[in-house]
Amino acid sequence: MAKILAFLLFLLPGNAEPSLDCAKCHAAVAASYAATAHAKASSPATAQSILGSFADGSNVLRTSAPGVFFRMEQQDGSFFQTGQEPGKARTERFDLVIGSGRRGQSYLYWREGLLFQLPVSYHTSTNRWINSPGYVDGEVHFERGIPPQCLGCHAANFQLERAPNGSVRYQAGYQLGIGCAQCHGTADRHERLQRPGIDACARCHSGLEHEGPPEPDVHGNQVGLLRASRCFKSGKMTCTTCHNVHQTQRDAESFSIRCQSCHAPASCPQARRETAAAARCVSCHMPVLPSKLIAVQSYRTHRIAVYRKK
Ligand code: HEC
Ligand code: HEC
Ligand code: HEC
Ligand code: HEC
Ligand code: HEC
Ligand code: HEC
Ligand code: HEC
Repeated sequence: MAKILAFLLFLLPGNAEPSLDCAKCHAAVAASYAATAHAKASSPATAQSILGSFADGSNVLRTSAPGVFFRMEQQDGSFFQTGQEPGKARTERFDLVIGSGRRGQSYLYWREGLLFQLPVSYHTSTNRWINSPGYVDGEVHFERGIPPQCLGCHAANFQLERAPNGSVRYQAGYQLGIGCAQCHGTADRHERLQRPGIDACARCHSGLEHEGPPEPDVHGNQVGLLRASRCFKSGKMTCTTCHNVHQTQRDAESFSIRCQSCHAPASCPQARRETAAAARCVSCHMPVLPSKLIAVQSYRTHRIAVYRKK
C-alpha cells in the first residue's frame, strides 16, 4: 500500500523529487542563510513579519480623494486592511508578505485558491504605509491578481492547477522564502547538486521586462549592469566575486577590498592622490544613482565604471 502511495505521489508534478536535507550536514550555512533577505523574501503574515504599524495614529493611509482612505487593523492574531470609500468599505486579510523589508513589502490575500495584492504596501526608509506600486491614488482596488512569475522569484513551487470544479487555483506544497533548492537544485544525490554560477542569479536578477539599457531600480538588473562593466570582460568576475549569499552583507564599502584582487589601488589616479580613497572604491565606481521609475528612491548601480560629477 505504502509503495503504491509513494508511486502516486511520484506522479504528482512538483512533489516529484526526493531531496537531501541540506541543514543536516551544512548546519552553519543553513543557520546564517536563515537570516538573509533571500530566506525572508516571502513569509506568512504575522506580527513579526509585517513591518508596518497597526498602532492608533499610524495605521491609516489617507488619499487625495475626500472620504477615501485605508485602515490597517489587527484582531486575534490576524491582520486586516480596509479600503473605505463614501458609503462603502471592503476588508481583506493580510495572508502573505512579499519582501524582507530591506526596501519595502507588499501584502497578498487568498481568495478561492488564488492570490491578490492588497492596495496598501509598506515603505521601509520612510517607515510608512504607501499605495502599492502602480495603484492610482484615491481609488480602492483589491483586484490585482498575483501571477506565478512573481512568486517564482520571491518564493518557490507556486503552481497553478485545475480544481475538480474546473476553477484554477494554486496547488498546495508551495514554499515561502527562497530555499537552497532555488540555486542548488533538488537532487537525491549530492553529486547532482549544482554549484551555481551567474546564470542562476540571472533568473531573478535580470530586472523585469522593460526596454532600453539596464538601469538600477527596484527590480534592479544587476546581471545586465555587471555585464556592461569593463571589469566583467576580464572573464573572471561573477556575482560571488563580491557576494556570499549565505550571509547577510550590509556594508557596501567593505566590498572595496574585492576590487583589489584585480586592481592595485595605485592603478587609480584618484586613489594615488588620496590615501583614504583606497577603502572607498565602491562609492565612486558603483555609485548610488536616483531611480528613474520611483521618485524618492536611489539604487546602487552594478555597472562598475568611472562616473564624473556633473
Ligand atoms: C549527508 C551530508 C550532506 C548533505 C545531506 C548535504 N551535503 Fe553538501 N556537502 C557535504 C560534504 C561532506 C561536503 C564536502 C565538504 C564541504 O565542502 O563542506 C559537501 C559539499 C557541498 C557543496 C560544495 C560542493 C563543491 O562542488 O565543492 C555544496 C554546493 C553543497 N554541499 C550543497 C548542498 C546542498 C544544497 C544540500 C541540500 C540539497 C547538501 N549539500 C546536502 C555533505 C552533505
Ligand atoms: C529565485 C529568485 C532569486 C535567485 C535565483 C537569486 N536571487 Fe538574489 N534576491 C532575490 C529576491 C526576491 C531578493 C530580495 C529579497 C527581499 O529583500 O525581499 C534578492 C536579494 C538579493 C541580494 C540583496 C540581499 C541583501 O541582504 O541586501 C543580493 C546581494 C542577491 N539577491 C544576490 C544574488 C546572487 C549573487 C544570486 C545568485 C548566486 C541570487 N541573488 C539569486 C531573488 C533571487
Ligand atoms: C524576475 C523575478 C522577479 C519578479 C517576476 C518579481 N520580483 Fe520582486 N524582486 C525581485 C528581486 C531580485 C528583488 C530584489 C531586487 C534588488 O534589491 O535589486 C525584488 C524586490 C521586490 C520587493 C522589495 C523587497 C525588499 O524589501 O527589498 C518587493 C516588495 C517586490 N519585489 C514585490 C514583487 C511583487 C509583488 C511581484 C509580482 C507582482 C514581483 N516582485 C515580481 C525579483 C522579482
Ligand atoms: C541565492 C543562491 C543560493 C542559495 C539560496 C543557496 N546557495 Fe549555496 N551557494 C551558492 C553559490 C553561488 C555557491 C558557490 C560559491 C562560490 O563558488 O564561491 C554556493 C556554495 C555552497 C556551498 C559550498 C561551500 C561554499 O560556501 O562555497 C555549500 C555547502 C552551500 N552552498 C550550501 C547551501 C545551503 C545549505 C543552502 C540553503 C540553506 C544554500 N547553499 C543556499 C548560492 C546559493
Ligand atoms: C575579476 C577582476 C576584476 C575585479 C574584481 C574588478 N575589476 Fe575593474 N576591471 C577589470 C578589468 C579586466 C578591467 C578592464 C581593464 C582594461 O581594459 O584595461 C577593469 C576596468 C575597470 C575600470 C575602468 C572602467 C572604464 O569603463 O574605463 C574601473 C574604474 C574599475 N575596473 C574599477 C573597479 C572597481 C571599483 C572594482 C571593485 C568594485 C573592480 N574594478 C573590480 C577587472 C576587475
Ligand atoms: C564588485 C563587487 C560586486 C559584484 C561583482 C556584484 N555586486 Fe551586488 N552589490 C555590491 C555592492 C557594493 C552592493 C551594495 C551593498 C549595500 O549597499 O549594502 C551590492 C548590492 C546588491 C544587491 C542589493 C541591491 C540593493 O539595491 O539593495 C543585489 C540584489 C545584488 N548586489 C546582486 C548582485 C548580483 C546578482 C550580482 C552578479 C550579477 C552582483 N550583485 C555582483 C557589489 C557587487
Ligand atoms: C573619490 C572617488 C574615487 C575613489 C574613492 C576611487 N576612484 Fe578610481 N577613479 C576615479 C576617477 C575620477 C577615475 C578617472 C581617472 C581620473 O580622472 O582621475 C578613476 C579611475 C580608475 C580606474 C581606471 C584607470 C584607467 O587607467 O583607466 C581604475 C581601474 C580605478 N579607478 C580603480 C579604483 C579602485 C580599485 C579604487 C579603490 C582602491 C578606486 N578606484 C577608488 C575616482 C575614484
